[in-house]
Amino acid sequence: MSDALLEVRDLTRTFGGIRAVDGLSFDAARDGITGLIGPNGAGKTTVFNLITAVYKPTSGSIRLGGHDLAGKRPDEVVRSGVSRTFQNIRLFNRMTCLQNVMTPILARASCGPVSSLFGTPSARREESEARERAFAIMKNIGIEDSAHRIASTLPYGIQRKLEIARAIACSPSLLLLDEPAAGMNDAETRELGETIVRVRNDFDVTILLIEHHISLIMDICAHIVVMERGALLASGSPDEIREDPLVVEAYLGRRRSGGSAR
Ligand SMILES: Nc1ncnc2c1ncn2[C@@H]1O[C@H](COP(=O)(O)OP(=O)(O)OP(=O)(O)O)[C@@H](O)[C@H]1O
Ligand SMILES: [Mg+2]
Repeated sequence: MSDALLEVRDLTRTFGGIRAVDGLSFDAARDGITGLIGPNGAGKTTVFNLITAVYKPTSGSIRLGGHDLAGKRPDEVVRSGVSRTFQNIRLFNRMTCLQNVMTPILARASCGPVSSLFGTPSARREESEARERAFAIMKNIGIEDSAHRIASTLPYGIQRKLEIARAIACSPSLLLLDEPAAGMNDAETRELGETIVRVRNDFDVTILLIEHHISLIMDICAHIVVMERGALLASGSPDEIREDPLVVEAYLGRRRSGGSAR
């Protein structure tokens, strides 16, 4: 079997006259952290929306573990092992942190809503196992102290981590992170980087990471894919990308003085 978990080939998606993704091909290595970078509007989030079946490709293919994702519904893609976070945080705002993480675990559990309602022994056991697993995930990500707080009242950085915890609760093989460090300062970003590496190691997950904090990308990604105007501009190791004249010209050059983001 190929050591690429995700294989994107000639992927194109148009919106009216805009080629948001334009003939893009790249791989994400199994158990690795692959960076997906590029200027605003390059098409990065659209790639995530295509992988997760929010949009259908205009043409091209996406394979996960050798299986074509074509024609799958978003819920089927999640069941195939793909889970994501969003550029604009999306949580169950009125639920606690714990409930946010338990919800996807219980959704996969075998007991139906009726046994859960009547609190049958097997439903109670599933609930206590889900609670235990949710705590283990929150502990790994460093948010267990906030377990009983309502999501909308949490500080922004904890909400970002909660989104990752909830995504991990779906037991994905591929985790898509869309700007998880947006709005974070350098120290918070470094700490988030350590969390992402720990998540990769402890949950055996392959990660595709969109970020404008270039230092984070360079620190934790083994391989980087650079997009510009929907197409592949370059791909390679952090050192190759750092030195690539096209990338420096199109993207990194503008960021050198400003450090990280936009
Ligand atoms: N649903 C849509 N309808 C029309 N145009 C869209 C749609 N989704 C994305 N686009 C367009 O596709 C292009 C790529 O957008 P996308 O959000 O994928 O960029 P991005 O690389 O994630 O940018 P950013 O770094 O700002 O988040 C943009 O021109 C955007 O306006
Ligand atoms: Mg985006």
